[in-house]
Amino acid sequence: MSVVDEIKARVDIVDLISEYVTLRKSGRNYTALCPFHSEKTPSFVVFPETQTWHCFGACATGGDIFAFIQKRENMDFPEALRLLAQRAGVALEPPGEKKTAEEQLKQRLREINAAAAQYFHNLLLTADQGALARQYLARRGINQETIARFQLGYALDSWQALSDHLRMRGYQQKDLLAAGLVIEREDGSGTYDRFRGRLIIPIRDVRGRVIGFGARTLDPEGVPKYMNSPQTPLFNKSGVLFGLDMAKGAIRAQGLAVIVEGYMDVLQAHQAGIGNVVASMGTALTEAQLRLLKRMTRNFALALVADAAGDQATLRGLAVAREALDREIVPVPTPRGLIRYESRLDANISIITLPRGQDPDDVIRESPERWAQLVSQALPVVDYYFQVVTADLDLTTAKGKAEARRRLMEIIREIGDRVEQTHYVQKLARLIRVSEEILWRDLAGRRSRRKVSARPTAATPEEAAEELAPISFGVEEHCLSVLLRRPYLISRLNQALADVGEDLLQGDEFTHIENRAIFDALIARGDAGTVDVKALRDGLEAALLPRFDALLKGPIGEPPLDDDQAVPDLVVGVLRMRQRRLRALIQELRFLSEDAMTRGDVKVEEYGETMRAYTLALRRIHQALASRSTLWRQADAA
Ligand code: UTP
Ligand code: MN
Repeated sequence: MSVVDEIKARVDIVDLISEYVTLRKSGRNYTALCPFHSEKTPSFVVFPETQTWHCFGACATGGDIFAFIQKRENMDFPEALRLLAQRAGVALEPPGEKKTAEEQLKQRLREINAAAAQYFHNLLLTADQGALARQYLARRGINQETIARFQLGYALDSWQALSDHLRMRGYQQKDLLAAGLVIEREDGSGTYDRFRGRLIIPIRDVRGRVIGFGARTLDPEGVPKYMNSPQTPLFNKSGVLFGLDMAKGAIRAQGLAVIVEGYMDVLQAHQAGIGNVVASMGTALTEAQLRLLKRMTRNFALALVADAAGDQATLRGLAVAREALDREIVPVPTPRGLIRYESRLDANISIITLPRGQDPDDVIRESPERWAQLVSQALPVVDYYFQVVTADLDLTTAKGKAEARRRLMEIIREIGDRVEQTHYVQKLARLIRVSEEILWRDLAGRRSRRKVSARPTAATPEEAAEELAPISFGVEEHCLSVLLRRPYLISRLNQALADVGEDLLQGDEFTHIENRAIFDALIARGDAGTVDVKALRDGLEAALLPRFDALLKGPIGEPPLDDDQAVPDLVVGVLRMRQRRLRALIQELRFLSEDAMTRGDVKVEEYGETMRAYTLALRRIHQALASRSTLWRQADAA
């Protein structure tokens, strides 16, 4: 529950507003003379059930307790938040305080990790017990220079050695636990070292600070083959790329990042002077990882296990094979997932096909030239997929063609860029010998059915996890999310609204107060064309940040839209918001007037008038929505 929700749960709107105005019970609701404009008969209504208020008179606005306080006390959202938090007895985090506590913890964990890495490294270089590990590295062709550069290490086969060493140096047990270096015994009798008798590979963040460890067994039968640090305040495997601190220069210089799966692949590549290689550490590549890389380049090449990016059947086969190999199941992003990444990140993703049964590690050791050749032959993800999904089909038969069309249209549909999409429609048309026309109709048919808040089922486990985002995406969130990411569309949206005879979008149209506050902050930044989102975020109340971040990220599985499509999409969204709001208000007015009628109240007339006005507005919106195919056609023509 957000702080805002918590406050709303504790402060009753009737109690609050009755401190400002005299409320009179009227059926299920309360009425009053509007405190915001002068009137002789009450148009101001409080709805206890929804904990909202509305002025049906000259103000024609409403909202929740925050909106009331903002308007009544002439406060901005943060001020209203403070006032109401105090009243509700909800503690607002003093800005910064929690952050510093967390930052201090992280700082201690970094120190501990650095000390542990140094300790493991010394053991590898000098300890008698480290001989096996040294031999292992030599056998795999890892030289002294690489060992030093990556600060590889060795963990003694002991339950206590690391923690004894670190405790002696003054580090606390609870911090060792938080760093993931020790594990609590189940019977509560203390802890034991996580990594024992293994080769140690320190994992660093972009800035080269040790945030976790990978540890390889030296036993050919050892299980698991690799152990990694657990999730800690510093280490979140799905947001880290192994080797990035070393690779960032080369990635920038070459304008290409090559992503491999394993630690060994990275060590071998860097040793061979191939510096633009990083590892996803066996997990499915995540959007967070690609975002890290995007600071250096937009061009990514994936060298995953052969067929890894193949179709679902291959994927399942892969998962089973890997289970059999006794390793973590490694979901690979589906081609659709990759294409979505491409359009969301505005990136180019290509796939490097490795010789069957070989890792980059093997290829590079054998021949760095061969590696360079494979990289240069990488195929754009869609081309790669054309190859993979048609491999098992006989394209001379009707069945084979139909199946190819089905599989490939699913992919082509995901492509955000129109020019690119056209290219592949042509390619598919040639491949299965049908007219492009037919394929375009496939695409158009789907698009018009697409819902504003469409949420396809998650393609990968990460996506499923991401769907548990802190907020749920309704129409409001959808519109706001798009506008936050493309603030320059605000003016185009308002123009498009004006074109269909509608008013421009206002903050108080958002029913969720946090959305409203975020939208207001966005608008207050002035010329929306040049909004600096980071500055906007910095200026926001801390309580709004979780929602802001979720909105900025957008919903998972959002269909990619270019600007010309996004504008009509937004218009539809705003109209839906208005539709919903008007329907709710008309409903309330109906109750109010029935109530007034039984009491013989003169307000009946006025309510009826307002209701008629709202109904007219609703009808206009209906018409605009009905003609929205026109909006889409205009966008298509553009
Ligand atoms: P691989 O099984 O392909 O290992 O896993 P590898 O890198 O080729 O290892 P070597 O060459 O046998 O030493 C690829 C990556 O998946 C992660 C590791 O990051 C590994 O480098 N992995 C693998 C795990 O995290 N746990 C495992 O049990 C296995
Ligand atoms: Mn390997």
